[in-house]
Amino acid sequence: MKSKLFCFLLCSLSLLSHAEGTNKQETDKTVTQSLIQNPSGRESTSLNGLWSYVVDPYENGYYNHRYQPHTDGYFKNDKVKSPSDLIEYNFDTADKINVPGDWNTQKKELYLYEGTVWYHKEFTFQKQSKKRYVVNFGAVNYQAIVYVNGVKVGQHEGGFTSFQFEITDLLKQGDNFITVKADNRRERNQVPTVNTDWWNYGGITREVSILALPKSHLADYTIQVAKDNTNLITGKLTVDGKNEGKVTVVIPELDIKKKIKLSKNGEASFSFKARPTLWSPENPKLYAVEFHYNGEVIKDTIGFRTIETDGEDIKLNGKSVYLRGISIHEESPLTNGRAWSEEDARLLLTWAKELGSNFVRLAHYPHNENMLRVADELGLMVWSEIPVYWTVLFDDENVYNKAELQLTEMISRDKNRASIIMWSMANETPNETARLTFITNLIKKTRSLDDTRLITAAMDTQSNSKNGMVIEDPLASVVDIIGINSYCGWYFAEPETCSDLTWESSYNKPVIMSELGAGALQGKHGESNERWTEEYQASVYKHNLAMVENISSLRGLTPWILKDFRSPRRPLKNIQDFWNRKGLLSETGVKKQAWFILHDFYKKIEEAKK
Ligand code: GCU
Repeated sequence: MKSKLFCFLLCSLSLLSHAEGTNKQETDKTVTQSLIQNPSGRESTSLNGLWSYVVDPYENGYYNHRYQPHTDGYFKNDKVKSPSDLIEYNFDTADKINVPGDWNTQKKELYLYEGTVWYHKEFTFQKQSKKRYVVNFGAVNYQAIVYVNGVKVGQHEGGFTSFQFEITDLLKQGDNFITVKADNRRERNQVPTVNTDWWNYGGITREVSILALPKSHLADYTIQVAKDNTNLITGKLTVDGKNEGKVTVVIPELDIKKKIKLSKNGEASFSFKARPTLWSPENPKLYAVEFHYNGEVIKDTIGFRTIETDGEDIKLNGKSVYLRGISIHEESPLTNGRAWSEEDARLLLTWAKELGSNFVRLAHYPHNENMLRVADELGLMVWSEIPVYWTVLFDDENVYNKAELQLTEMISRDKNRASIIMWSMANETPNETARLTFITNLIKKTRSLDDTRLITAAMDTQSNSKNGMVIEDPLASVVDIIGINSYCGWYFAEPETCSDLTWESSYNKPVIMSELGAGALQGKHGESNERWTEEYQASVYKHNLAMVENISSLRGLTPWILKDFRSPRRPLKNIQDFWNRKGLLSETGVKKQAWFILHDFYKKIEEAKK
């Protein structure tokens, strides 16, 4: 309670002081600050809309010519007061850009830009004396430094997780301004590291709002059915500020109204009997849940379910389930830029449902909260992952801290989403000792934060044996579910040979084929042995799905990928043009032949389970 607030301020201050005197590479200090749960369920003021922006490739608005941070950088929003004043920026006359939204697809000149852009928003605010104010960012890719009325409030590293700063003392009655230094440069010691197979969309890519909170407020809560008793609802509460005694949990449809007594440090664990209808893809039942505390009513929608493994089985609500999945990048078919809105989420996830999916792999980073809330609503189970992707610096403690911060922020924001059944620690990382230690530590952290969900990772380290593939990676021993990425017919072997490819696993754990697939330019046709034709992609799917049916430990798949997506690694003129063409849909949502093959496969599986 007070300790939380103290930590909050201390964390911000330590960031403040730490960042002032350092340059970008040294601002590795990562701070795990618990997020205020469910911002959209609270009183808030949106800062979405048009912001001024100034492109600053040399960070001239932050460093002086001695490469030391300015005291009067662009964040001061200085104005010319007399004709002789020299000020070499002006947010009043600067161009505008939409927030949320990546800069790459909003401004042609920023399509490939990697560097700093200053964002600036002026707004009037009616401040209430008995409230506390927190600014909430859905995400800024990749590093953000935030200023309110010219004063730094903090900074954040990590392009796909929410972060917040308390701004109560800086916010004024009436006119205010907020300035953000957003920097999407890739560095070797980041998470992800410099090379990925997706577009480096920069900017304030998700929503921004100011939360108005009671001085003492319910900062965090968790609520779920007990793992071993679905007639018992359990949870945790954490208050920030003076302890006002009790929190009331209300679930009208279950006729629940429970007063929960807080301990002296403003925390409580609770449990009470109830008989909720359990959430599932077939019946994605969500309940309105309210938390009443100190005059604030926080509204949420919660699904109640259990998830576990049993040998090679995955069980949802105690029943074996087969995960008919598809992988999805966070890219909007509407803007062909970074997806962020409910509309984007509804479109992408409705496409997944149309394919026959009950499961989605949200690759390769935590997606925006709309994706998870719409997945709750549509009944899609979710694989959610942090971008420990390929070869990050596994022996660098700072890099581990960055990964752990992103993991903590992902779980903190989404722990109440029924749709998420597994947290993924990594994608296609090398089989090395430092990597195993790094990921084993992430797994320990995950279990300490959330012991209700399963843990997985996608591996591409399988080896060949004389008659097929052998799953053997020390990582497989420490996860609950083994993810396998394998591109038979695309990165190795001829498509026709894949049907007979066998897979051995000695782990007695469920296996998910977390990636398989091939590229095709939608509308390009030819023989099935001609690469980039829809026929070639269809042949790869046909033979891989025959292979999948013969893997005895396999309990699901998330083929790569629902929709073509932008990637700087895919320049092939007139075929890729900086698009990864492994989508079952083109970038505008046109189905390719392979879409129908996977659709029919899932239909067959669904009918066989009836
Ligand atoms: C890898 C990787 C993906 C990538 C895909 C591809 O398996 O996990 O991020 O896009 O292969 O090569 O298309």
